[in-house]
Amino acid sequence: MAEPRIAEHAVDGLFIGRTSPRSFTGEAIPDEVLFSMFEAARWAPSASNIQPWRLIYAKAGTPEWGPLFECLMPGNQIWVAKASALVAFVAETHRRQGETRTENRTHALDTGAAWMSLALQAEMLGWATHGMAGFFHDKAREALRLPADFDVYMFAAVGKRGPAAALPPELAAREVPSVRRSMAETVFSGHFPVVG
Ligand SMILES: Cc1cc2nc3c(=O)[nH]c(=O)nc-3n(C[C@H](O)[C@H](O)[C@H](O)COP(=O)(O)O)c2cc1C
Repeated sequence: MAEPRIAEHAVDGLFIGRTSPRSFTGEAIPDEVLFSMFEAARWAPSASNIQPWRLIYAKAGTPEWGPLFECLMPGNQIWVAKASALVAFVAETHRRQGETRTENRTHALDTGAAWMSLALQAEMLGWATHGMAGFFHDKAREALRLPADFDVYMFAAVGKRGPAAALPPELAAREVPSVRRSMAETVFSGHFPVVG
């Protein structure tokens, strides 16, 4: 039995209730639902409001699905096959101002904020998401036709939660709520704790 997800302090149930399932029902996702999630991502905060993220999506059963699905590592493809949509999170890594090209040091952080906004909006709408770094990077660059100065960070599967029993046994066994490092080991006052 997995330990339950228990909050140490008051927090909205949305944060504890969001999990990353691998069992999806495979049902079609309406555009208005998917774009509500994209709307949440679009309003994420970013350094200097640069909004370095771009989202590239494919709905299951469309011609766009295959090329994105093929970017995923086989261990992810097994369960993503029953997701309703795939979303690639890509970001512009550098800024150009005239002749000057400088790295945007917070591009990944900002894109993570967009991803989390999408995940929580999905949860609020009764849908689920599952992020994946398990994809072939070069293949993804090509499939997504990324311009220079863009990088791809994550794919997310979006779908309606299905029963764990619908998964192959080895994946069903992993369909348990994850736990978290304690508050005391995560949050420090003033400085990093002195070790030893
Ligand atoms: C950036 C990122 C990459 C991830 N990559 C994978 C992946 O390739 N395959 C997978 O099954 N889960 C992947 N996950 C899911 C994590 O394992 C999961 O979020 C973590 O165990 C916490 O569980 P929870 O989301 O249910 O709270 C990824 C999550 C994130 C945020």
